[in-house]
Amino acid sequence: MHLRQRSDIRASEITPEAVYRQRRNVIKMLGLGAAGLVAGCGSENAPSAAAEAPAAEPKALSVTRKGEYTLTDPPTSYKDATHYNNFYEFGTDKGDPARNSGRFRPTPWSVEIAGHAEVTGKYTLEDLLRPHALEERIYRHRCVEGWSMVIPWNGISLADLLKRFKPTAQAKYVAFTTVNRPSEMPGLRDAVLDWPYREGLRIDEAMHPLAFLATGLYGRELPNQNGAPLRLIVPWKYGFKGIKSIVKIEFVEVMPRTTWNIAAPREYGFYSNVNPDVDHPRWSQRTERRIAGDGLNLFGNRIGTRPFNGYADQVAGLYAGMDLRKYF
Ligand code: MTE
Repeated sequence: MHLRQRSDIRASEITPEAVYRQRRNVIKMLGLGAAGLVAGCGSENAPSAAAEAPAAEPKALSVTRKGEYTLTDPPTSYKDATHYNNFYEFGTDKGDPARNSGRFRPTPWSVEIAGHAEVTGKYTLEDLLRPHALEERIYRHRCVEGWSMVIPWNGISLADLLKRFKPTAQAKYVAFTTVNRPSEMPGLRDAVLDWPYREGLRIDEAMHPLAFLATGLYGRELPNQNGAPLRLIVPWKYGFKGIKSIVKIEFVEVMPRTTWNIAAPREYGFYSNVNPDVDHPRWSQRTERRIAGDGLNLFGNRIGTRPFNGYADQVAGLYAGMDLRKYF
């Protein structure tokens, strides 16, 4: 399937001149094409959906286990982590998810567990989370576009959750699906991606102790724009693997189709491991713009990107013997 084009409104027609120029610069910096074309994961486009009321302040969480996965890297500010987002269901501009997700209702929520497992069914989020203590994990978060953040997530180990359902030997992969609610997600009106958003992991990746399901960040419930109420975090992979607002988890035998791979198969592979040695076809992945402290560091210094986003010691073994240029 080829990439579909969004409605043809020129950014300059609806955006103040300075903002428009800055956006064009970012597009240029990211090596993307003309404004208005959804050229890749999270290209910087004009707001695509009518502005809606922003959501209320998220509630505090009680996090009982802290500090097992921490980093010394300075964290990204809460403001940047929650106002510079990719969540195309709310629009393709970085500010759209915060601006347009106020009508989204993450409660009540249920998740369907399906496929090759001894236990399957539909569970309320509360039932799903009840046996687990919420942890804090400070992870690097590297977007395929070339920016990165350091975010204290709150949530549970993906493996701990999956094991409860006793996957069978036929469960070779795990497929995830995002909710599809056009009345609450104005971006779904634009056919920029093949909705609903879908992602997947090989079962051993999903069972790796670093793979995480987040319900919060910075000790508060996930704001809608970050994927409320439940989203995936795979810190050694590009950010688009981190599917948001999950409603279905399915154990499958065959490698599942994934949204960005469907949109642009030559650009976004199934594995999507952070790899400075394998360029995106349209830009280098050698360096990243770290958004830490205060401000987006739009034209600041870039830092070197590390293999597997700095988690090689823990995860490189999952890919032993694989040609990572072929399995990108
Ligand atoms: N999940 C859904 N459902 N829809 C999306 O558009 N964008 C992905 C990923 N998960 C996306 C998604 C991309 S490209 C990135 S980089 C991360 O979410 C961004 O997560 P953040 O906004 O919390 O930083």
